Amino acid sequence: MTDSGGLLFSPIRIGRLTLPGRLFKTATAETRASHDGFVTDELVEFYRLLALGRTPLIITGNIYVSRQGKSAPRQTGADHDDKIPGLIRITDAVHGAGGRIFAQLNHCGRQVVPDFVGAKDVVSASAVKDLLTGTRPRALSPAEIAEVVEAYGEAARRCQAAGFDGVQMHSANGYLLSQFLTPYTNRRTDDYGGDLERRTRFAREVLAAIRARVGADFPVIIKMNGSDALPLRDGLDTTELARAAKIMEAAGVDAVEISVGHYESGFPMVCGTFGRCLRAMLQGSMAHLPAWRRILLTLFRPLVTLACNLLWPGREGFNLDHTPAFKAALSIPVISVGGFRTRAAMENALARGLCDAVSAGRPFLADPFFFRHIRDNIPGPHCVDCNACVGHLGAQPADCYHPKVRAEKDAMLAALRQP
Ligand SMILES: Cc1cc2nc3c(=O)[nH]c(=O)nc-3n(C[C@H](O)[C@H](O)[C@H](O)COP(=O)(O)O)c2cc1C
Repeated sequence: MTDSGGLLFSPIRIGRLTLPGRLFKTATAETRASHDGFVTDELVEFYRLLALGRTPLIITGNIYVSRQGKSAPRQTGADHDDKIPGLIRITDAVHGAGGRIFAQLNHCGRQVVPDFVGAKDVVSASAVKDLLTGTRPRALSPAEIAEVVEAYGEAARRCQAAGFDGVQMHSANGYLLSQFLTPYTNRRTDDYGGDLERRTRFAREVLAAIRARVGADFPVIIKMNGSDALPLRDGLDTTELARAAKIMEAAGVDAVEISVGHYESGFPMVCGTFGRCLRAMLQGSMAHLPAWRRILLTLFRPLVTLACNLLWPGREGFNLDHTPAFKAALSIPVISVGGFRTRAAMENALARGLCDAVSAGRPFLADPFFFRHIRDNIPGPHCVDCNACVGHLGAQPADCYHPKVRAEKDAMLAALRQP
């Protein structure tokens, strides 16, 4: 094993928690809960397999902190104490298989297709229409902001009570916390808008509400963008986002995971190819868009696919352009998500000091044993970045939808079930 390979499989501390390796399963909205957000057998099994694969840390897909912040029909919720028994089933299964799991807490804000989840009241930092979905939110009042802050704190309390090893605040990818950070979506003139200090106020209050419940020793990490990727709009660049991360470090987060983009950015978050993705999307979450938007997207789909393929081709470690600014600014661990497929690319990123850990999403959907297979140099079902999984996002369980790769995965899991 090389020295850098040693680093990939060496322990890392996040707050008071020591993890046995540096390749994590990042959040992928599992879409396997019941329609009212309760844990199901298939959701428990999803995480159990990841833990069996020796994954050093599993981060759940985004869990809604309040009904208002729910973005997909079968999303998991932590919005009420009656969700705790189900959440315990997840942590029991993961711990029983020797794993560790963090809950990603989220409020979607304006990034929702209202008819998809039956949302009546869509809120954000300001009333800025989402150009992709056409959803126009209303601005939260200060009293309502306080309610959302409480909802985050209470959701974290429930997750800790359910046995999770930590929580992640989802402040990336254009969801509510990200909407407050970004000047394009935050036009407020009160204490929550204006300079960076004010635009981080909501996130700092959320963190304080979480800490007040879970204490200083419980790991709380944050996912942030390395770039908002909002050209011609007032998005944040890497320098400003690294400054925001520094503010969050001072406020008490234990690590930061770096992603990229809002819904409105297109697909920089999931570089790859987009034919299967757009086809599935128009039959899934986008089927609930207003008719003219859907027809326009359907008519121009081949052209849009071509443009997306050219703009966001798959490449390993595609957020590593951003992470050095965070590494320079922060003392806490920096985790880089995006495009990691091979052990060589992961080892290289760590050896060059571009990040302290890496995380992956789609490869684990293709192969829940991705970590063990990478560690032991065993070939497994391999993600080909076709993004069919993204196309089914929110409408179908998060899984691999590439026919050949999925067949390999199913065969692997069937063999496992053989007596
Ligand atoms: C099906 C699917 C669902 C996702 N859901 C979430 C989510 O719930 N929360 C989140 O922060 N990111 C989510 N992402 C983004 C991933 O965390 C990750 O940033 C992205 O897939 C790039 O990493 P990868 O190249 O390893 O897949 C999702 C991605 C996919 C493919």
